[in-house]
Amino acid sequence: MLYIVGVGSGERYLTKEAEEILNNVDLIVCYTGYKKYVERFNKPIYTTGMKKEIDRVKKALEEAKDKDVALVSTGDPGIYGLASLAFELNKDNIDIKVIPGVTACSIAAASLGAPINHDFVVLSLSDLLTPRELILKRFKLALEGDYIICLYNPISKKRKELFLEIANILKEKDLIVGIVKHAGREKEEKRIVNSKDLIKYIDFIDMNTIIIVGNSKTKLVNNKMIAPRGYLDKYKV
Ligand SMILES: C[S@@+](CC[C@H](N)C(=O)[O-])C[C@H]1O[C@@H](n2cnc3c(N)ncnc32)[C@H](O)[C@@H]1O
Repeated sequence: MLYIVGVGSGERYLTKEAEEILNNVDLIVCYTGYKKYVERFNKPIYTTGMKKEIDRVKKALEEAKDKDVALVSTGDPGIYGLASLAFELNKDNIDIKVIPGVTACSIAAASLGAPINHDFVVLSLSDLLTPRELILKRFKLALEGDYIICLYNPISKKRKELFLEIANILKEKDLIVGIVKHAGREKEEKRIVNSKDLIKYIDFIDMNTIIIVGNSKTKLVNNKMIAPRGYLDKYKV
């Protein structure tokens, strides 16, 4: 059996079900950088590095023929994780069960206040598997639709162009933007800035960062970033 397990931030927000499964499997398979989050389960761990996702999933499927295996992602494995690839590569019809986790934008949102408490779009700025033009088109449409926009994978060491394009578009707007690095981890850091200034934070933002762009109704209440549901417009409180 193959369990595809989300482990929240790695340090916090592990669900009870994920914990139970990780305590009971024969093997854990994960990205090298996440090994530290699963060592405490005292199971054999197989790791591969960045861009070795196909090898990792194939190994997990192969081992799951006669073992219980957990393929681990941070956050939720069905949100920019390896769940869909495992289904696509499952030629031997191995039983697969996806165990949801708390995704990074939920953790970041909770830390900022309540910034995704209305309609929101989730977008990854990684153009490794998705054409850049499509990412930009989706961002512009989300902005036009006045959605709150959660940006995953905003920057990597070699990839900054899309972030720069988006920050340039946001220079012309007047929106509240929350930036959370290492959300839900001991070294969490956050900033709440105006969209006109986002570009100035390029050195703060890295591949462990989520950016949440507010909509036109987003406001600050006691330094917390809030997306109102509209209760106060509708009812006299
Ligand atoms: C490949 S995606 C994985 C997302 C993950 N499956 C989830 O549901 O959170 C990696 C991106 O998620 C975001 N991310 C993951 N964990 C994070 C955290 N603890 N704090 C901030 N951003 C995080 C970053 O934008 C990072 O570049």
